[in-house]
Amino acid sequence: MQMLGLDLAGCHDDRIGPSGLTTSALESAADSLSSMIEKVYESAGSGMAGWFNLIHDPMRSQHLDAVRHACSTCGDADTVVLLGIGGSALGPAAVHAALRPVTWNLESDEHRGGPRFFVLDNVDPDLVGPMLELIKKDDPRFERTIFNVISKSGETAETAAQFMIVRSMLEAAGGQARIVATTDPSRGTLRTMATREAWPTLPIPDGVGGRFSELSPVGLFPAACCGIDVAGLLDGAAAMDERCRNRDVMVNPAARLAWTLVEMSRCGRNNHALMPYSNRLAPLADWFRQLWAESLGKRHALDGSEINTGPTPLKALGATDQHSQIQLYREGPDDKVIGFVTVERHDTLLPIPTRNDDDALDYLAGHDLGALLKAEQRATEYALSESRRPHFTISMPALDASSVGQFLWLWQITTAMAGHLLGIDPYDQPAVETGKQATFGLLGRKGYEDWKDKVDSLLS
Ligand code: PA5
Repeated sequence: MQMLGLDLAGCHDDRIGPSGLTTSALESAADSLSSMIEKVYESAGSGMAGWFNLIHDPMRSQHLDAVRHACSTCGDADTVVLLGIGGSALGPAAVHAALRPVTWNLESDEHRGGPRFFVLDNVDPDLVGPMLELIKKDDPRFERTIFNVISKSGETAETAAQFMIVRSMLEAAGGQARIVATTDPSRGTLRTMATREAWPTLPIPDGVGGRFSELSPVGLFPAACCGIDVAGLLDGAAAMDERCRNRDVMVNPAARLAWTLVEMSRCGRNNHALMPYSNRLAPLADWFRQLWAESLGKRHALDGSEINTGPTPLKALGATDQHSQIQLYREGPDDKVIGFVTVERHDTLLPIPTRNDDDALDYLAGHDLGALLKAEQRATEYALSESRRPHFTISMPALDASSVGQFLWLWQITTAMAGHLLGIDPYDQPAVETGKQATFGLLGRKGYEDWKDKVDSLLS
């Protein structure tokens, strides 16, 4: 297996001068980082760190078997629609984008080699309505469409509302409902409904919160439906896990990355941009934004003190945002770290043809577009180094399942470790829960009446 590369030299003083991190600071921190790694792995697999079990047997095999079985019952479907939000949507969308061609949904059924894939991750009526109408036009009785409703809690208003609309459409169409529910194995409204209606279900095990769930059936089922190598994703994650268990921080990519970004935050670089040089990887930056923001943005430290901490994740796309964001990143406030994500080998070789009619463009002729993209990234890295702005590079060997699995696991462990270094709980999301409960109150859910009063009195 080819391993993901991580180059943090752009955050160090020998590249960006005195405001960079020093090797001696890292060496001084090495012992405490080593015990941090030990603590993170001591709790791995228990409590809310249950997600560590996803890549190991027996859970790995159980999930692969369940997902393959669920896929086999969907054999003739030509469309999969995911209903979910946050951690129940961002991972599946990102993995599909990374590992299927950008033209996937536009291809004819014969050429595609798997169902079209749509993610409805909002309650914008101008998204949900037209998408469902489009699907209905192609498949009036919804007999070739799988609706994969995903909700860990089984209670989230956005997903529930979409699902209620879909169920009515399915009932009105009079066909056989094709629903797969991915939810908590035993609790929640969605689980109760699925049991009552005998829909096929897939589990989101205890200890696997939404943003840490991509390598659970949340992500594995839609990926497997579209022919993605799901075992390869898990293998990539397991290979990264081996590297991140190493107590030696000098060679542990997650510990190095967590330490670097937390130290950068401490010296005022609290905005962390991820900038893939690949359109197919752009949605992975959305996945990263949720993971980093929701896990690390916390009011309270573990000891209960109020600290209001957390980096602000940003998203950019190379080379497109060189013509949008880089001016700010290079010359604006020195409060950012830019993380490039590069691909060593693109799937498509697209040479720029030679023409003999314009000398000024000759320099481009004969180069491959991938080589131009690589040069653009290197030029941007130079520009940031030259203005002493911190940056790092994650290099993916290829757009394949193993590289994506490694990438997901690297960031999940980096997030757990950064949480440890910041002294916060990376697994809760009280601010998100407040919004959910206030929404319940505003829409009149029984038991949440006082939330409406609270909203009305504060916003009056
Ligand atoms: O990471 C999280 O926990 C959240 O973003 C949830 O995934 C999101 O709020 C959706 O929750 P649920 O899956 O319970 O519907």
